[in-house]
Amino acid sequence: MGGQGLSLNELVVMRGGRSVLDGLTLSVPAGHIYALLGGNGAGKSTALFATLGLLPVMSGQVLVDGKDPAEEPDAVRAAIAYLPETVALYEHLTARENVDYFLSLADQSRTNAEIVEAFAQVRLDPTAQGQRLSAFSKGMRQKTAIALALLRKTPVLLLDEPTTGLDPQATQDFHALLLDLKASDVAILMVTHDLLGAVDVADTIGLIIDGKLASQWQAQSTLPRFDLQALYGAFTQARAGNTPA
Ligand SMILES: Nc1ncnc2c1ncn2[C@@H]1O[C@H](COP(=O)(O)OP(=O)(O)O)[C@@H](O)[C@H]1O
Ligand SMILES: [Mg+2]
Repeated sequence: MGGQGLSLNELVVMRGGRSVLDGLTLSVPAGHIYALLGGNGAGKSTALFATLGLLPVMSGQVLVDGKDPAEEPDAVRAAIAYLPETVALYEHLTARENVDYFLSLADQSRTNAEIVEAFAQVRLDPTAQGQRLSAFSKGMRQKTAIALALLRKTPVLLLDEPTTGLDPQATQDFHALLLDLKASDVAILMVTHDLLGAVDVADTIGLIIDGKLASQWQAQSTLPRFDLQALYGAFTQARAGNTPA
């Protein structure tokens, strides 16, 4: 899928009269998984909303595949697949009907073979594809949403706490899928509370405190990929409301 990935440069976003993002800078190249961690209220979801162009930017810049959502909102939205914390699909439609419907909304037609292949790639059981979403677990909903994201072939994928509420097997399947997307050059920005999960899949881990990037770590090419003790220390301090030294 390629593309230029995404970058946030010195981003300031106000909500409720204060700067919730206060100079946030990070970048996610194509084929790269960035895990953004931080406590409740640190500004993680706000960073995703701003990337989608859903919140006004006071200063700084968002670039999605080279485009600024303030200038080219439609092009930016077309370049992004976004999984909110609660997947927003239609409960009364089947998985297949949801995918067909949202593809038609995005004005994208895909062949039956392409759709079957996407469901196979996310490992959603073929019988489940014909069942209504109301009978689905969170993991199955996410597989449906990711199948849709795959079919849209967007260069950028945003995920808000995707593994919260998934069992260990579903989390593992989900991470395998992220690695597949990475291999097809998607730029993935994932907001998460799951430090151990991030250590498994991320190329870069960032810690956001009070709307700023407090620390950032790059995966090593040899095991262990990250210094877990250092990460754990920084996150425990962040949860306690301190800025790491
Ligand atoms: N709709 C809103 N109106 C005003 N302030 C908000 C709104 N949503 C979030 N905020 C503020 O922004 C801060 C960051 O929220 P959010 O980005 O959702 O945090 P996170 O996803 O890291 O938990 C919160 O502490 C809250 O004070
Ligand atoms: Mg959030």
